[in-house]
Amino acid sequence: MKFFIDTANLDQIRDAQELGVLDGVTTNPSLMAKEGITGRNNILKHYVDICNIVDGDVSAEVIATDLKGIIKEGEELADLHEQIVVKVPMIRDGVKALKYFSDKGIRTNCTLVFSPGQALLAAKAGATYVSPFLGRLDDISSDGLNLIAEIRLIYDNYDFETQILAASIRHTMHVIDCAKLGADVMTGPLSSIEGLLKHPLTDIGLEKFLADYKKGN
Ligand code: E4P
Repeated sequence: MKFFIDTANLDQIRDAQELGVLDGVTTNPSLMAKEGITGRNNILKHYVDICNIVDGDVSAEVIATDLKGIIKEGEELADLHEQIVVKVPMIRDGVKALKYFSDKGIRTNCTLVFSPGQALLAAKAGATYVSPFLGRLDDISSDGLNLIAEIRLIYDNYDFETQILAASIRHTMHVIDCAKLGADVMTGPLSSIEGLLKHPLTDIGLEKFLADYKKGN
């Protein structure tokens, strides 16, 4: 399972990278705005800064919603750095763009996916990654994890190569559940990854080992 961090905050990306388990980064326009990154040139520079910190894939989202605009922006983003994956929304022209990029060998992440049908379309169009937003489904009392399971079943039925990128992960149990369901990738806040570290018996056990060592030395 690949671990991506879902942020545009360079300090958090560095922290995750230093932990040694980071495989990539996802961003979106809201995460960029949260870091105060505005204006096309600053946004493009920020993507390159992120690529220079991590070794893996970095999703960069297009703003255009028409085919011509998505293609223009996507090609500009892909030219920025070899690690860039063009993030395209699940809309009609987005599906056409996924196919266009796939034919050109440009890697994509189909975002804002909330149903198995949308995920099937994204795979048919050749998306590299599909991003089902499980946290946002949970927020409206729908079952986000069930969506991951349904997409896994469909993709396995037909050996689709599109990777399931479980997005909108909110906490560590989402990570564990997605791993059980066979999601290829998770993306969430640093805290959802760091939560995997924690167990009180580890802390208690270590404390006792160190105390016993001190008694004999
Ligand atoms: C995915 O790529 C999105 O950036 C992200 O996971 C959305 O998460 P949110 O629902 O916590 O905003």
